[in-house]
Amino acid sequence: LKLGGSAVTVKEKPFTPNEENIRRLAGEIKKANVSRLIVIHGGGSFGHPLADKYNIANGFTDSGQLIGFVETHEAMVSLNRLIVSALIAQGIPAFGMPPSSFMLIRKNKAQMLNPEPLTSAIEIGLTPVLYGDVAFDLEKGFNILSGDKIAALLAVKMGAKRIVMVADVDGIFTNDPKADPSARLIRYLNLDDMQHLRVKIGRPRTPDVTGGMLGKVLELVGPIERGIEAVIVNGTKPDRVYRALKGEEFVGTRITKT
Ligand code: IPE
Repeated sequence: LKLGGSAVTVKEKPFTPNEENIRRLAGEIKKANVSRLIVIHGGGSFGHPLADKYNIANGFTDSGQLIGFVETHEAMVSLNRLIVSALIAQGIPAFGMPPSSFMLIRKNKAQMLNPEPLTSAIEIGLTPVLYGDVAFDLEKGFNILSGDKIAALLAVKMGAKRIVMVADVDGIFTNDPKADPSARLIRYLNLDDMQHLRVKIGRPRTPDVTGGMLGKVLELVGPIERGIEAVIVNGTKPDRVYRALKGEEFVGTRITKT
């Protein structure tokens, strides 16, 4: 389950959590009661403004960026704490795990160095809570490791059945629904449709160093090719995440291989 930054933070206001949404989503996760769930959250207004200001996604070029690297990480740690606390308040044994301490980026791809802490956590019934983070990049020194890249990597490595991507829009539209009121929600897509349609997906109006909706969907091609279903749902509307997690009928976009 990837909770996009747009669903857990107020995107236009730096360092502002969307506390009401976080609380409701934690309740829906509890109610869905999915076993072997990994939660990943994005940066939203906690991660992106700092990552942008210090050019973290372009790699390490001067030592002045180092303070930005650690500040970006700290901002993400503080958002992680809020989300973990909300899950624990529901009685979920949520366990925050910093991706930068066991993942790297090599040739623009996420790589997990030691899967054992994560697999052990899942094995004993914890709910790991990871997040988009800064990370070391073997070519560029450092980089941003997005929650979407983490979701794609873990879905494949851990043999996920489904990736649920939570955003602040209903799914993938024929055009940016925030700019074009006649845009239609696409309920179902396969990989071929995706290539052919070249769906014009909502472009972010706020700093997003990792590509907005378009980037999100493209990151998932790897797992979808391997037969893992990806769904996109609106986490600002009640019950959608619950229904998507349960595999029930829901309003959103489902993407499958064929
Ligand atoms: C970005 O993670 C994390 C940082 C900028 C440090 P994501 O790219 O997954 O975040 P959202 O979901 O788009 O906000």
